Amino acid sequence: MNPAVESYPLDKRPPSLPPIHSVKLTVNGKDTELQISPWTTLLDALREYMDLTGTKKGCDHGQCGACTVLVNGKRINSCLTLAIMQEDTEITTIEGVAQLDGTGYLHPLQQAFIERDAFQCGYCTPGQICSAVGLINEGNAKSTADIRELMSGNICRCGAYTNIVDAIEDVLNQKTA
Ligand code: FES
Ligand code: FES
Repeated sequence: MNPAVESYPLDKRPPSLPPIHSVKLTVNGKDTELQISPWTTLLDALREYMDLTGTKKGCDHGQCGACTVLVNGKRINSCLTLAIMQEDTEITTIEGVAQLDGTGYLHPLQQAFIERDAFQCGYCTPGQICSAVGLINEGNAKSTADIRELMSGNICRCGAYTNIVDAIEDVLNQKTA
């Protein structure tokens, strides 16, 4: 941030400077307070202010799913929500997914993506995995066709869809075995 911007107390900022707001976020179990413009998206807050660059920006318009994170266990596009709207929620990014099952190892979906070779360039992968965690939490995927439909918001330009679906199906089958 511009040091000249930072040096003004929040209540004495000249109108020429963009407004700055104090926003408290809980990300991957850690509480953080950011000084950001109120229109900062959650995606930009994570990437630009918290160095959590695992969450990717593809379209910035809710069309690709690369920015998917979990908010209170539900998947959302972080480019479509403002950081200020997510105070008092629990945000999980790809950097925190491994903590979710408390084993200290990779999340089963991360392991399955490796075993199934479910990525090529990897740019969509954090969003795919966070979205798949949300899909499993929702409990609506009962078949391969369901997985395809319910993951259709996550675009993979490399076309790794077959292996992505296989990886998710592996984890769903483990859960129902
Ligand atoms: Fe958010 Fe594409 S960057 S949906
Ligand atoms: Fe390259 Fe999906 S692995 S975009």
